[in-house]
Amino acid sequence: MRLNDTLEKAFNDQITMELHASSVYRQLAIELDQLDLVGMASWMRKQAEEEIEHAERFIAHLADRDNRAEIGTIDKPEVKISSAIDAFRASLEHEEKVSASIRALRKLADDEGDVDSRPLLDDFLVEQIEEEDSVRSIIGRLNLVGNEGSGLLRIDDELGSR
Ligand SMILES: [Fe+2]
Repeated sequence: MRLNDTLEKAFNDQITMELHASSVYRQLAIELDQLDLVGMASWMRKQAEEEIEHAERFIAHLADRDNRAEIGTIDKPEVKISSAIDAFRASLEHEEKVSASIRALRKLADDEGDVDSRPLLDDFLVEQIEEEDSVRSIIGRLNLVGNEGSGLLRIDDELGSR
């Protein structure tokens, strides 16, 4: 069954948001490379790839439901960081926005009586909980090491081998 027009638009907005998230992560990778934190940069690049996959899953859902996916305007990633912890705080802030958006989409699907999109959206809600948790734990560990170089490099190594 097709998604109604309201939901089609909301799904397309979500696709645009996932692609924007991907460019935010790619910019964060660039900034971390500048700080010589190559492991963290590589972690961010992997996140950027994952966001593309998220967009693809929403695109596939629209196609499967005989709807039309259409990518909207992708805003410039506004990223300003001067440390590793800044980068992961920016990441958490962004993930929280994405979570709120998927939550709103899930509620909208309910309001519109669209049962078929529930499994996909529920999957994404679970994934967002995991995403936020993993970024929060990285921030926690960065807080523990503070400005101590060898601790920072150890976390950089670990994140690089993800
Ligand atoms: Fe995502």
